Amino acid sequence: MTVSGATAEFVVVANRLPVDQVVADDGSTGWTRSPGGLVTALEPLLRKRSGAWIGWPGVAATDTAKIDESVNLDGIEMVPVRLDDGDVADYYEGFSNATLWPLYHDVVVKPEYHRHWWDRYVRVNHRFAEAAARIAGYGATVWVQDYQLQLVPRLLRELRPDLRIGFFMHIPFPPVELFMQLPWRTEIIEGLLGADLVGFHLPGGAQNFMQLARRLLGVPTSRGAVGVRGRYGEIDYWTRTVRVGAFPISIDAAELDAAARRRDIRTRARALRAELGNPSKILLGVDRLDYTKGIDVRLQAFTELLADHRVDPDDTVLIQLATPSRERVDSYRLLREEIERQVGATNGEFGRVAHPVISYLHRPVPRDELITFFVAADVMLVTALRDGMNLVAKEYVACRSDLGGALVLSEFTGAAAELHQAYLVNPHDLVGVKDAICAALNQSPAEGRLRMRALRRQVLTHDVDLWARSFLDCLASTRTGTPDQTGTM
Ligand code: ADP
Ligand code: G6P
Repeated sequence: MTVSGATAEFVVVANRLPVDQVVADDGSTGWTRSPGGLVTALEPLLRKRSGAWIGWPGVAATDTAKIDESVNLDGIEMVPVRLDDGDVADYYEGFSNATLWPLYHDVVVKPEYHRHWWDRYVRVNHRFAEAAARIAGYGATVWVQDYQLQLVPRLLRELRPDLRIGFFMHIPFPPVELFMQLPWRTEIIEGLLGADLVGFHLPGGAQNFMQLARRLLGVPTSRGAVGVRGRYGEIDYWTRTVRVGAFPISIDAAELDAAARRRDIRTRARALRAELGNPSKILLGVDRLDYTKGIDVRLQAFTELLADHRVDPDDTVLIQLATPSRERVDSYRLLREEIERQVGATNGEFGRVAHPVISYLHRPVPRDELITFFVAADVMLVTALRDGMNLVAKEYVACRSDLGGALVLSEFTGAAAELHQAYLVNPHDLVGVKDAICAALNQSPAEGRLRMRALRRQVLTHDVDLWARSFLDCLASTRTGTPDQTGTM
């Protein structure tokens, strides 16, 4: 497939490409996988559909005016949108990750509202919309992703009314009383309503969105649909119906299941345990280093369990893998300092020479290595304060064909709506978190098998293909955006 001219039939538009461009000291460039759940979910899917993916290649570039030539990697046509230093500071680190991210995650940290951040968000959204308009073929399906690009559906519809436009929000969509803080709340809702279908992980997010559309724009809503009004001269008429629904995202469960059964992975999992001094229990946390993930909560709970003598420091190890994330944003820098202080303090108090009680890595690990950690871990700790879905919880379950292991899972993740047999916890209740960790550590093998079997049934039958198919089938059944109807919805 070529994307010179408007020819692509299926286009994903996301802030990030699934790969980051890396520039070596000698000036040569290469690619590495980029972080986060959005990429994990969409990458296998796009490869199967041989579509085009428009996104930022992860490095600031000085020349923003031009969209560089696309490159075909593993069957995906990658179309880079360049961001310059100002875009990265104001659109990406600023409005996306210091305004929207904390606001949409229950104001876990205080969102900042700056007009120049908003202005840049608008400008960059224009650029993504223009890139999509340039490469999408007539009547193509364009699937816009996530909070960084909420204005793109409307902008793209104005440029290309022939397109079928879907939007999926990968993070929580907040309740009305929080969203109303946003000075640009109306523009965001109008931006999203440019889509034919707007999807969220949970019904609650969809309801919040419809309530906001009613409140801010006065549009009618009914059973998963919002009416959008237009004017033609003196006549006021309904132009379109926007569908709204819940589509809980998932993982390529079969692929992980198969990988975790491989002999080399099993051997490496045993070797990992031996390297750790053959502890009887390994606990594991795997996250981007983000304040929404509650890494501090689990470190605190673990430390208190050691202090209370409910967990034996000579026989238990906690591994925390933390991918660096948004490192120039203040709240992320502070979080890193705090986590590393906690790890140091706990190891100082309870570790032995060459045997820390917490093994902490601040870097991404290769996929096979990650699967090895999942296979080796007796207890997986997911203690997010708020998380749209949390794919890590599902990945752990997919890797446990042996029916071993236990999942401690925050009620404040989207995954908790599906994974009822996990040890569900309120991450704000430290006593409850400690009790749940103890229960998971001490579960009988029979109970563990029972729980894991039920969790696996859910994860293996609700994979990322099902998610994409249900979203795209729903999108295909919507009418496209040309004005088609007068009167009521
Ligand atoms: P988010 O999208 O907020 O980062 P998710 O849990 O939904 O959270 O997705 C995170 C993805 O990143 C998962 O696929 C997970 O396996 C991967 N990941 C997280 N931490 C690491 C790490 N240290 N090394 C490699 N992959 C990681
Ligand atoms: C979450 C968001 C994604 C984002 C990812 C990584 O999964 O929903 O949109 O890409 O985190 O964050 P980053 O800021 O590094 O792209």
